[in-house]
Amino acid sequence: MQPTLSTPHSGLTTEQQQQITAAAGILCAGGTVAFPTETVYGLGADVTNPSAIHKIYRIKQRPADHPLIVHIGAITHLHYWAQAIPESAWKLVQHFWPGPLTVILQRNRRIPDCVTGGQDTVGLRMPSHPIALALLQALGPEKALAAPSANRFGRISPTTAAHVQQELGPAVDMILDGGACAVGLESTIISFHDDLPQILRPGGIALSALETVLESPVLLAHNDQQTIRTSGSLPAHYAPITPLRIYPAEQLWQRALALTEQDLRILVITWSHSAQSRPALSQSIEQFAMPSDPVAYGQQLYARLRQFDRAAFDYLLVEAPPDHPEWLAVTDRLQRASYH
Ligand code: TXA
Ligand code: MG
Repeated sequence: MQPTLSTPHSGLTTEQQQQITAAAGILCAGGTVAFPTETVYGLGADVTNPSAIHKIYRIKQRPADHPLIVHIGAITHLHYWAQAIPESAWKLVQHFWPGPLTVILQRNRRIPDCVTGGQDTVGLRMPSHPIALALLQALGPEKALAAPSANRFGRISPTTAAHVQQELGPAVDMILDGGACAVGLESTIISFHDDLPQILRPGGIALSALETVLESPVLLAHNDQQTIRTSGSLPAHYAPITPLRIYPAEQLWQRALALTEQDLRILVITWSHSAQSRPALSQSIEQFAMPSDPVAYGQQLYARLRQFDRAAFDYLLVEAPPDHPEWLAVTDRLQRASYH
């Protein structure tokens, strides 16, 4: 059956709606479509079609035991893909969906093994980008989109359609362009092991917002033993090609100067006013001021790292973000980007 949009989505142009219908056709035929979400661009395939799922792993060069997030078009579809859903998960999705929150739940048999890397849990999320929602609606309630970020494994997630084109290009059957992603960092991933909510990956929803809705503390998982295979929890991930190091503001310029003595070109990336207002120390050091607000910083981070990679610096020296819960997601991504 040819997928169609049952109701036109307000805010989408006729051309966008036609592209979404075409994309749904490609997905139903076992193809791959990159699509915008509010966090980052996803590389989508029909969750019920294992050969389409294998294409995602191949294109991303992602190890087969790293599970994919399943994107659904309505809260009510949760029952269709998951079981034994804890009360706290319902509370969170009712409050934050559609939006940048992924819940890890017990999967049911509709989810093939290849989507979860053989684990008995599945990550589910309802994105809020109108194109993602329209695409999910076009697929109908008995399909969903398995979609990791549309980048090669370990690299920076794409936040524009041009990034996907540059990184995956012809490997993907279609790229839907929905502009720059509003959040810019991936979703917050939360699990409910023994009914205890735990953040596996900080992201678009702040820890404090989760705690407010649950009216209880939420733990940050330290996945040191790597028992749960969350690729975003590998120490090295989300990495630019240029080596990146993090230093407190007091050490930043001194470190940069030391590197220029080895004839290296350095970019110093600050966020605080005090770190910015340094005199030019050397022609080999350039400076870039990121926003001092964590949400705005996160929104730009990946696009800026791509831009800095193209400028061929020898090192990126980043001012350490504040030690504050609102900065968790940015700090997490910078730390993984700096792992060596
Ligand atoms: O914002 C996002 O979440 C984006 C957009 C496209 O929705 N997606 C995304 O997918 O970041 P990906 O595959 O790049 O990262 C998903 C993370 C991975 O680290 C994966 O291991 C983890 O979610 N994950 C998925 N299912 C899981 C499960 N059952 N248990 C633990 N971690 C899981
Ligand atoms: Mg990813």
